[in-house]
Parts: sequence; structure tokens; C-alpha cells
Amino acid sequence: MHAVAASSGPADRILALLRAAEGQELTGVAIARTLGVSRAAVWKQMDQLRAHGYVIEATPGRGYRLAAAPQHLVETEVRAHLRTTCFGRFLRVLAEVDSTNRHLGALADQGATEGTVIVADAQTAGRGRLARTWFSPPGRNLYFSVLLRPAVEPSLAVTLPLLAGCTVANVLAAVAPELDAQVRIKWPNDIWLGPRKLCGVLCEMQAETDRVHHVVVGIGLNVNLGRDELPPALRASATSLAIAAGHPFDRAGLLAALLARFETDYLLWSERGLAPFLADLRARDLLYDRPLVVEQAGRVVQGRGAGIQADGSLVLVAPDGSRQDICSGDVHVRLGVRA
Ligand code: BTN
Repeated sequence: MHAVAASSGPADRILALLRAAEGQELTGVAIARTLGVSRAAVWKQMDQLRAHGYVIEATPGRGYRLAAAPQHLVETEVRAHLRTTCFGRFLRVLAEVDSTNRHLGALADQGATEGTVIVADAQTAGRGRLARTWFSPPGRNLYFSVLLRPAVEPSLAVTLPLLAGCTVANVLAAVAPELDAQVRIKWPNDIWLGPRKLCGVLCEMQAETDRVHHVVVGIGLNVNLGRDELPPALRASATSLAIAAGHPFDRAGLLAALLARFETDYLLWSERGLAPFLADLRARDLLYDRPLVVEQAGRVVQGRGAGIQADGSLVLVAPDGSRQDICSGDVHVRLGVRA
């Protein structure tokens, strides 16, 4: 994993100073001196920050004070929270894009470095697994993609959706402890809260038989969506953090926490594979001991979920007691039916 240069501009640095002042005023002269820029440059940046939705109060003779940060997702705000060394050090937060996965995949083909992150406030053609779409309205959720170039065999790289699921589950448990007991991982790529889907992971890999070129890990997480904002078709099956917790979440802070944990988890996974994550995966396995229907290219198999294995496959025990390793497919839980 390579660290790339942080691209923090003057607005980011002014923001960092205002935040460090914790609500106290800072004079334009002091800011200009600290950053080695002119006072005119400081005024210009203050205007830019205000245009991005920051409320910056200016009191004559006393200076500038950060009164409020914007609610919508902006690059400066995400960067202000970032604590990573690699993930998101090259970062773009777009107001709208067709799909962050498609956009980042194109950047990857042009040689973008590992850890590049594309975030969008809205997607017009968000992609889900199995050619589905991902509901991506503006101002509410997180839609982001991380570029990985793991030096591992493709057979290990296919476990990345589980790794990402594990990361998301653990971050959610930390930021919303009241929801911890409900956070479940649905093999191979979803996070559920109780009986509803909260988050989907879409990993798109470019590889040869024995070598991975890159993997775009795309994560869509319903954060502040209200129940009445969900399309009727999703209302029974999807949820958001805010619906479940009863209060909104700071998307920029949440995104930074996800990137930080994902970076740490990815480093460990690069060294030791999925093994260190199996205990968490098994503890949060939604499918364990549930009656399942698995649709695989042209065939349907039924059985009971019997755990996730070290290679990332799902064990299914058929009604006759035979075991099958499921490596791919669309899994439906027969809710309400106990095995
Ligand atoms: C699924 O559950 O089917 C996976 C959904 C993945 C959605 C995310 S949103 C960010 C990234 N960009 C996309 O186009 N898709 C993924």
C-alpha cells in the first residue's frame, strides 16, 4: 500500500486552524502569518468556505470564528475529519455522479493510486450487485468507492466484500452503540439492521488468473434517509441509521471513521487474509442457522446457513444433511421459517 501526497489546500488549512481554536476568534493577521499567505488570500478563502455552507462569523477587531459546518457533504469537511495515511489522501467529493464505482474504475484504468477515494452526495446510476441499481438521493446517505491494488491472489481478493462488511459493521457498532446488537452481515455483501438492509458493498475487480490489477470497493450506506423518503418498493426491506436510531448522523465524520477502520483492516487482511475477521463475521452472520434459498446461475439450492469459512465461502447444509460450499449467488432468507 502506498501513501500518496495529501492534497489539502489553503481552505482546508484555514478550517483546521478555526477548528483547533474551538469556537474562539482568530484574527486574519494571525491566520495569514501561520499559513504564510496574505490577508487578502485569507478573505478569499473565508468567502469560499462560506460558499460551501460554513458559517464563519467575522467580528471587527477580534477576528473569525467557525460557528457551524455545512450539513451537505463537502470535501473540506470530509478532509477535516480524515485520520488515514493512505485511504482518501487523494479524495474527490462530487455533488453528483452517475456511479462512484464507474468513475473510480475509469481513474484506476488511467493509473490512479491505491487509496484513491471518490465520494458523491448523489448518484444518478448507482450500481448494485447483479445489475441492480442503488437508490442514491442527495443530501442523505454515503456513496463512496475506494481503489485497492492488493498484491494477493484473486482467490483472496474475492473476500474483500466480507472484509468491507466487517469494517462497516464494527464502525456502526462504535458510532451507534444502541444499534450494535442489531448489526448483521448478510453474506456476501450486505449489512442489515434487524430485518432490513442498511448498506450494500459492490466490489469490482480487474484481474488475470493469478494477479489482481485493482479492485474498486463501493459502499452505499443509508444514513439520514427518512422512512417516507424511501421508494415504496424499498420501504419494507430497507432502513437507515437515522430511522433505526431516531437521530441524524454526521456523514463526514462517519465517512472518515469508515475510511480509517477500512485502512487498518485492509492492512491486516493484506498480511493475514480473512482469518483475523472470521470471529466478527461469524458473530454477525445473519444467515447462520437460517433457512436459505440460494440462486446461482440457472439453479436454486436450499438449505440452512452453517457459517462463513476462512476462504469466504458460505456453508449450506441441505435438508438431506449434505454440505455445500457456496462461493457466489443471491441469497434469500426465508424469514419467519426456522430450520
Ligand atoms: C448491493 O447491495 O447490491 C451493492 C450496492 C453498492 C452501492 C454502492 S454506492 C457507492 C458505489 N457506487 C456504486 O455505483 N455502487 C456502490
